[in-house]
Amino acid sequence: MTRAALLMIALAALAACGRKDKAAEASPAAAAAEAPAAVQLRSFNLAAQKDQFSYANVDEVRTTHVDLNLSVDFATKTLDGTATLDIERVKPEADTLILDTDDLAVRSVEARAGGAWAPAPFVLGADDPSLGAPLQIALPAGADAVRVFYRTDPGAQGLQWLDKEQTAGKRHPFMYSQNQAIHARSMAPLQDTPQIRITYTAGIKAPEPLVAVMSAIRHEPESGIQSFRMDQPIPSYLIALAVGYIAFKAIDDQVGVWTEPEMLEAAVAEFSETPQMIVANSALYGPYRWERYDMLVLPPSFPFGGMENPRLTFLTPTAIAGDKSLTSLIAHELAHSWSGNLVTNATWRDSWLNEGVTSYVENRVVEAVYGPERDAMERALDVETLKTTIADADRPELTQLKLPADLKDPDEGFSQVAYVKGAFFLKFLEERFGRDAFDPFLKSYFDKYAFKSVTTEDFLGELNALRSTQPDAVLDSEIDEWINGRGMPSTLPLPQSDAFERLAAAQAKWVAGTIQPAALPSAQWTTQEWLRFINTLPDDIPAQRLGELDAAFALSTAGNAEIAAAWYLKAVRAGYEPALPEIEKFLARVGRGKFIYRLYEALDETGRGDIARAVYAQARPTYHPIAQKRIDAILKDETAAN
Ligand code: BES
Ligand code: ZN
Repeated sequence: MTRAALLMIALAALAACGRKDKAAEASPAAAAAEAPAAVQLRSFNLAAQKDQFSYANVDEVRTTHVDLNLSVDFATKTLDGTATLDIERVKPEADTLILDTDDLAVRSVEARAGGAWAPAPFVLGADDPSLGAPLQIALPAGADAVRVFYRTDPGAQGLQWLDKEQTAGKRHPFMYSQNQAIHARSMAPLQDTPQIRITYTAGIKAPEPLVAVMSAIRHEPESGIQSFRMDQPIPSYLIALAVGYIAFKAIDDQVGVWTEPEMLEAAVAEFSETPQMIVANSALYGPYRWERYDMLVLPPSFPFGGMENPRLTFLTPTAIAGDKSLTSLIAHELAHSWSGNLVTNATWRDSWLNEGVTSYVENRVVEAVYGPERDAMERALDVETLKTTIADADRPELTQLKLPADLKDPDEGFSQVAYVKGAFFLKFLEERFGRDAFDPFLKSYFDKYAFKSVTTEDFLGELNALRSTQPDAVLDSEIDEWINGRGMPSTLPLPQSDAFERLAAAQAKWVAGTIQPAALPSAQWTTQEWLRFINTLPDDIPAQRLGELDAAFALSTAGNAEIAAAWYLKAVRAGYEPALPEIEKFLARVGRGKFIYRLYEALDETGRGDIARAVYAQARPTYHPIAQKRIDAILKDETAAN
């Protein structure tokens, strides 16, 4: 084909597809009809792909590197610029590259062949509400890179844009990405599947005096551009960006904290034990391979506890309790540096390999740094969460470790099952094989699969090698129950906590009315004991009895967000009205899903749907798109009727 003909096709494509309008989204046929001949939109059978959550044709072409050149515009809440992807053909004859996108406005696409860039025909397929739309690009012979000119949508699922009022300093806006599981595609056109690893570089133009940080090596800004480099191949969901008025303070030469200046000292003090965690984790499972471990503490609307972005964990400020009692969150995100970031789940159906293995490693690090009692208490709390999760599961298949083939959205699969059942599966194996055998096993698993993706089947294959050394340690049927079984596994090793047993005895006396709150041995209680005490109070406890506790311990104004959230949930269920004003304030300030989803649900279920809806009407714009979607669903029934 002549260059002129190519250009014509490209121009036609540009006219047809430079924008993605809602009409084209609705019908794949309409989108296909607009496509120029050179890029007939393919039909997709995602169920038959290795990763059912990605359109990428990774069997034909693989991306190896992306260079992002983006300007951050707070006025329009968009990132605007280019993504340049280096590609390698898996099939030499491949003539198409398919990238994942979600709500990206694609202006034009170029391909590079023989060192020269030329416009490339492209077509954007139909939009799926969970998966976004495939961007299909025609590759000329010999093409080794493509460049996409695009802009993100202000409502991008993976980005949150905060007004200055939502920050601690209240003077500058803030933005950050949250790309796990499949939201990187709303930030850039990518092969957005954890089966593909890429390195990345980035040049970010952000308004002064804001600072950009990424999950990458940060270079000093030059002529207004802040540049970054990640030389280790990572899955797309670990690309991360945040921009805000933030400052840095070192904890030691490897570890430090980025956050708004208002929070910096408190965050540095709270997370001062992170270097010990790195030592403990490395001693168990091999060297930390990402050089630096920095943390970014975000404003309170961050919808998760933490996100393990490599070199730069993103964190909720609700982890700052003042007494380092919630730092198992750091142990968790750090542990992902082995399970998840180094050895990555090949698909989101295997997400227990990320979250369950990480939760197990987290427990081991907590045990090493804080001692066995704290570990036992945390695991005992987890068992209760697992029971509730299993009891409340919408579909029994979602209580399996290996998630069902018909999972529609990876977010559906992220429950405490992946975390807690996954962690206890490894604990079960540890107990059966003994630490002397199991610890080296896990370490060699991380070494063998470093910078690779694994499936549940790969893991079980490795486990078979260990089993051959101790043939009687576990039965096939036991393994099968853990992986494919539903509900609580019959071989779940229950954690033993003496502290919790003592606590249960004291609690029983108070519930029976034989002792006053002042006689509870609460002065020595840790956060974990408080959580246990609150969670195990009967749901139907008379509200006035919660009043007695509140009078003695000021639980409604607890500064520890975990304790406060646990208390609020109990208060709502027991109809303890005096807590409501504090609950409303909490919901207006904090966007962390773990705390707020269940509170909204409980309010709605106990006849306080009016309060829930009034608070949500105010708070919704301050929540992350992910949280908005979840709470919209929780509160939808009556809203639809209104
Ligand atoms: N990787 C997760 C966060 C995540 C999960 C993002 C699923 C998107 C989809 C992170 O490591 C995590 O698990 N965070 C937990 C905290 C942890 C201590 C259990 C959280 O956010 O609550
Ligand atoms: Zn995790």
